[in-house]
Amino acid sequence: TKKITIAIDGFSSTGKSTLAKQLAKHLGYIYVDTGAMYRAVAFFAMQNNLISSDSFNKVELVNRLKDILLEFKFNSDLGFAEMYLNGDNVEKDIRTIEVSGFVSKVAEVSEVRAKLVEQQKEMGKNKAIVMDGRDIGTVVFPDAELKVFMTASASTRAQRRYDELLQKGDVVTYEEVLKNVEERDYIDTHREDSPLVMASDAVEIDNSYLNREEQFQAVLDLVNNII
Ligand code: C5P
Repeated sequence: TKKITIAIDGFSSTGKSTLAKQLAKHLGYIYVDTGAMYRAVAFFAMQNNLISSDSFNKVELVNRLKDILLEFKFNSDLGFAEMYLNGDNVEKDIRTIEVSGFVSKVAEVSEVRAKLVEQQKEMGKNKAIVMDGRDIGTVVFPDAELKVFMTASASTRAQRRYDELLQKGDVVTYEEVLKNVEERDYIDTHREDSPLVMASDAVEIDNSYLNREEQFQAVLDLVNNII
């Protein structure tokens, strides 16, 4: 069978990463969560006092981009790769509501995007990859053989993210999570550089009413028609 590139884009918390991981595992492909990369840059900015609720020193963040090393290292116990920032495993640090509150502002910066997109293209140069994000089918891999665009209602998505955070023991309210999901959607769709938009050749999947298995089967059918 031929090796292809699969791009999965969509709004926050539509289940992109769950689907992407399932597909990658099934096909024996690499899975790359590009949101983790933007989150790691946001975490770096927080750690270095470059961003807070009332200020964002973009110039300094851009100056310091060269000091940011992002790596994915495979964790065989978990069965997927984890995000490392300058040698440290930041998988837990980047999934907090604080990082979620800053990440879309960091992701608006063109220099940040250019650096991450370059690294993402490099990771996909041999195909056999499933990558999820916001601009994968439009900017990172415009020639991907399969592009999926995932949607679901904001309330479905917020509930999902809320359950996830609770499970990890985070103290958050549903309203807080919903507000964050809506804010990120707004910034992600309105930014100048690489806004979140469905590629014209993408297949749209609204998973408000699909369970994991149904969604996986639907996309697997699409894959099997190509490979
Ligand atoms: O996928 P996740 O929700 O973890 O992404 C976090 C944020 O990173 C998004 O809300 C978006 O602002 C940014 N992002 C992006 N481009 C990508 C992936 C994520 O701008 N390819």
